[in-house]
Amino acid sequence: MGFLRCWLLWVLPQVWGSSKVLESRLPLRALQISSFVNSSWMRTDCSAWLGDLQTHRWDNASDTIEFVKPWAQGKLSLHQWENLQHIFRVFRSSFTRDIQEFSKMLQFDYPAELQISAGCEVYPGNGSESFLQVAYQGEYILCFQGYSWEAAPDAPAWIKLVIKVINEDQGTIEIVQKLLKDTCPQYVRGLIEAGKSELEKQVKPKAWLSSGPSPEPGHQRLVCHVSGFYPKLVWVMWMRGEQEQLDTQKSDIMPNADETWYFRATLDVAAEEDAAGLSCRVKHSSLGGQDIVLHWDRSHTSVTNIVLGVLAFLVFLGFPLGLILWFRRRRSYQDIL
Ligand SMILES: *[C@@H]1O[C@H](CO)[C@@H](O)[C@H](O)[C@H]1NC(C)=O
Ligand SMILES: *[C@@H]1O[C@H](CO)[C@@H](O)[C@H](O)[C@H]1NC(C)=O
Ligand SMILES: *[C@@H]1O[C@H](CO)[C@@H](O)[C@H](O)[C@H]1NC(C)=O
Repeated sequence: MGFLRCWLLWVLPQVWGSSKVLESRLPLRALQISSFVNSSWMRTDCSAWLGDLQTHRWDNASDTIEFVKPWAQGKLSLHQWENLQHIFRVFRSSFTRDIQEFSKMLQFDYPAELQISAGCEVYPGNGSESFLQVAYQGEYILCFQGYSWEAAPDAPAWIKLVIKVINEDQGTIEIVQKLLKDTCPQYVRGLIEAGKSELEKQVKPKAWLSSGPSPEPGHQRLVCHVSGFYPKLVWVMWMRGEQEQLDTQKSDIMPNADETWYFRATLDVAAEEDAAGLSCRVKHSSLGGQDIVLHWDRSHTSVTNIVLGVLAFLVFLGFPLGLILWFRRRRSYQDIL
């Protein structure tokens, strides 16, 4: 239950928060991936993200945490940052040693993949929420809750032994507790302040229409692409006049390489006539209330028709051409034989 509680504490605000349209949330999330290929080969790589922007990178080969954003030191002094980095360095090497110890004790199988997600989110006023979760082979196995480590409800039985051992290490618990409850929220406040101009950036979406693969004979799939926007929150809907088409299918919001986002809304219609009068409407905070509205017209259909026409022409040309070549090749084989 403990695990569920600390997991819910993390997930629920995300769900509730998303109903407040166009209000971005900025949790700081440090992600660690440790791969133990065998008893002698392992690596640990880390990254940190404020909302959807990557702020830090820490490769296995490096002794120092790299700033991806120029403001990634937040409001910490160089001295404070170096102290923090030292703590993480000690953590990383003792983590590797501990896992190798546990692996002997529990005889778990290589290759082993461990992931840690830890961080916090600050709220207006002085409130904050922290989290630390650990996954083994992609499954959540334990989290840090209050003043101790707790097993996930479906965790394998051996995790109890691990929990018992790590809960005896009061020194580590105190450090983790302090990092999560004090250091993290304080650091995040500074980070949000230092990165303010980039965090508040607004990049306008571009939108265009195309027709997708026909879902079934006589049907047509209309696709509305929206790309290059920031922040991530966007509203896209197929409309008939002012009427929202509720069977609009929405893709996930996917990242572009330049820290902007891509999204696609599709609508299947029965016939070409049904597509007339449809439009795609896009709302985004960067547009200042001026929604993008794209009207579907026959030109989008004709693109497919042109492609089909060209294909048919190629097949028409290609078939006799292929026959001629085949005959020639046969002839030349016959000449050899
Ligand atoms: C461990 O894995 C590495 C990388 O795959 C390999 O090069 C090495 O020989 C392995 N060592 C042992 C002891 O199996
Ligand atoms: C990762 O770093 C550790 C500690 O520096 C080192 O022992 C290990 O060989 C590194 N792993 C790889 C794959 O380079
Ligand atoms: C915010 O909370 C921290 C501890 O959680 C405390 O040290 C600090 O004084 C508080 N600040 C304000 C402005 O209330």
